[in-house]
Amino acid sequence: MKVATHQLRCTECGTRIAGSAVNSIFRCPECNGLYDVIYPWSLIPPSIPNGDIPASDSKLPNPSALRWLWQERRTSTMPVDQSGVWRFRDLLPIVDNPEDVVTLREGNTPLYDLPRCAKLAGIDWLLAKHQGMNPTGSFKDTGMTAALSVAAERKFEWVACASTGNTSAAMAAYAARAGLRSIVFIPEGKIAWGKLSQSMDYGALTLQLKTDFDGCVRILTDLVTRFPIYLLNSVNPYRLEGQKTPAFELLEQLEWQVPEHIIVPGGNLANGAALAKGFTEMHHLGLIPRIPKISIIQAEGANPLYRSLQENGGEELIPVKANTRATAIRIGNPASWRKALRALRTTGGWCEQASEQEIALAKAQIGAEGVGCEPASAVTLAGLKKLVAQGKITREERVVLILTGHTLKDSDYTINYHRGELFTEAENAEISTSDQALHASLRKPPVVLEADSDVVLHTLESHMNMKLSQPVTTA
Ligand SMILES: Cc1ncc(COP(=O)(O)O)c(C=O)c1O
Ligand SMILES: [Zn+2]
Repeated sequence: MKVATHQLRCTECGTRIAGSAVNSIFRCPECNGLYDVIYPWSLIPPSIPNGDIPASDSKLPNPSALRWLWQERRTSTMPVDQSGVWRFRDLLPIVDNPEDVVTLREGNTPLYDLPRCAKLAGIDWLLAKHQGMNPTGSFKDTGMTAALSVAAERKFEWVACASTGNTSAAMAAYAARAGLRSIVFIPEGKIAWGKLSQSMDYGALTLQLKTDFDGCVRILTDLVTRFPIYLLNSVNPYRLEGQKTPAFELLEQLEWQVPEHIIVPGGNLANGAALAKGFTEMHHLGLIPRIPKISIIQAEGANPLYRSLQENGGEELIPVKANTRATAIRIGNPASWRKALRALRTTGGWCEQASEQEIALAKAQIGAEGVGCEPASAVTLAGLKKLVAQGKITREERVVLILTGHTLKDSDYTINYHRGELFTEAENAEISTSDQALHASLRKPPVVLEADSDVVLHTLESHMNMKLSQPVTTA
């Protein structure tokens, strides 16, 4: 008899079901709650109902053995070992045959130090885990390899997602690798071209609906109850199993020294929750002695979690009509808000918001470090500055920003910023003189010149603050 490696547990009422018994919308029929994937070794908090099956210590994987095994797999030539997600498969046993997983060798993303951004924020130590360096250019790949592998193993032919762009790019790529058909629902006109082009390139059927992201989710949720289409939005808990693995990789890169603080952007609010699950599991298994704080930053124009915390302490979600140029997080009614709230509460982090102007400034500052990211990722630095200014993060605390998307995902935004065309006149008028000066020092628009050596020379002189027309002396 085959032994189940995992179950799904409702995050609201605690009901447990077999992974294969889940309905098409990934919601508990009793209470509409979302599910967590749990394992025989999972820690079931006593506060959660139905936590009656205690984890057996004998089933706990051994931390030293895990560290050794994960390191060993780095030298393997097998695709499943080369994946920065499946290398950690001992902590996500969600498929029966790991050698058949659908992988583009996701994960394995770099950790960069950002000394100039640290100084700007007022702290000594700042790193960025760049999830935009994944195969399709965003962190979504880590979740997609996991959930798409489950879809393929369960013999689905069609998969679908509603997306602000990055999920659809990732889903289309992984579906194509697996030979599955994919359908993308995107909001009309509110998606970066780079992302839309990826879905087409990977052969997805792209449906652009005359609504926003939240409207796309409504339609798709209805459709999957009528057709055998596998839903790949982040309500699918297998996505979060993949998205928790950057927490493992990060700690490995830091030689298991736990930073004080992790900062993530918040849109549909699954990613902060996924990382919190990863850190919590590592702590439970004895891989790390404590859990870092996780803070979630939203755009001011798409801030339902921030507003709900301010106005009712997170009792109820206050959906908003979302509007931000950081289109990846243009989400007004986030599905995973309760999971995100749990992540904030269990780790002791905060929820902040960043204005359009603060996001643009932070993005330019990350770019000026030679790292770059898409606008949604830059909310992390904008939020960090605020948390430091409020005294919630102190100078000596070690902070890691999760940069979720590659700078090339939304080059229109970057070009408009550098040309001084991103903001309306009314918005520009609101920017303080000191911030205007900061923007001016960061903007690098292309300089259009006559093809004449003297003209070029004079222009360079003014930029380099030196006289080039005189002979250069070396003495
Ligand atoms: C680049 C980028 N950053 C952040 C997010 C937000 O992640 P989540 O929806 O899990 O909060 C998304 C996707 O929605 C994204 O594409
Ligand atoms: Zn339930």
